[in-house]
Amino acid sequence: MHNVVSRDEIAPSVVRMVVEAPAVASKRLPGQFVVVRPLEVSERIPLTIVDSEPASGTITLIVQVVGATTRELTSIQPGENILDVVGPLGRPTHIEKFGRVVSIGGGVGTAVAFPIAKGMKEAGNEVWGVIGGRSRDFVILEDEMRSLCDRLVVTTDDGSYGVKGFVTDALRRLIEETSGAIDLVLAVGPLPMMKAVSALTREHGIHTVVSLNPIMVDGTGMCGGCRVEVGGEIKFACVDGPEFDAHLVDFDNLAKRLRAYHDMEQQADHQCKIGLATRNKQ
Ligand code: NAD
Ligand code: FES
Repeated sequence: MHNVVSRDEIAPSVVRMVVEAPAVASKRLPGQFVVVRPLEVSERIPLTIVDSEPASGTITLIVQVVGATTRELTSIQPGENILDVVGPLGRPTHIEKFGRVVSIGGGVGTAVAFPIAKGMKEAGNEVWGVIGGRSRDFVILEDEMRSLCDRLVVTTDDGSYGVKGFVTDALRRLIEETSGAIDLVLAVGPLPMMKAVSALTREHGIHTVVSLNPIMVDGTGMCGGCRVEVGGEIKFACVDGPEFDAHLVDFDNLAKRLRAYHDMEQQADHQCKIGLATRNKQ
């Protein structure tokens, strides 16, 4: 059992939860994730560890409500418990002094871009951040990114805040401005965004890493649910990743696999809403 210490909605349908998990907090490294089962009836879902405080034994998770399990998880209030939190899992981000690193977060992907940017900064890199959201309300972790980045660009699709456009538009401008003098790009967000970043940096020969989030079940390499094609080989995101060389990832194949579960997820979410409404009435 893992006590929820705090819970706040940081964007529409995006909830930050600080959770007691001392064993995870003391060991986790940037880029790693936990597999969470909120309630007895729930499925397991992977969530990146956004931050940790070993002294208080807590980890921070950011959850976008997209289906049944995330709905069940975010219904848990401070003082209540999450059933299972297993981790840290996955390979940590490869961190060293690369030089100039651009960490890009598209929407909720910023929850993953932030700990990577923090690790890169601590390793002595010049870190630039690019974070974006559909509109002002969907930009998350701006203060946290600003406090560690040497430079930060914020974009919104509708221009309601920061620079109008996609994060990829901002990246293109940074590449032009520096004539490609960027040593590493890290990109996390929706698949079309990571694919677009990858296409852009390939043109300029800039090494690029993406963090993938396919469906995961056990998170330990046993079920095969998280398989992705990288450089023509099958890899399991939970044990071989979740970070991979963007220029080798088959994004179209991954998108097809994610779409295959869409109807089942919608049905499960519908049942979940009914279940939670019944529980709240009792
Ligand atoms: P969103 O659809 O609102 O997009 C966020 C931003 O990404 C946009 O503001 C834009 O700047 C950029 N973007 C979107 N589509 C683009 C395109 N075609 N080309 C270029 N840029 C584009 O995102 P959201 O609703 O916040 O969802 C976040 C997504 O990130 C979800 O799909 C989620 O699965 C994914 N995610 C991934 C990880 C991971 O580890 N890879 C972690 C958390 C979330
Ligand atoms: Fe089962 Fe990766 S989640 S193999």
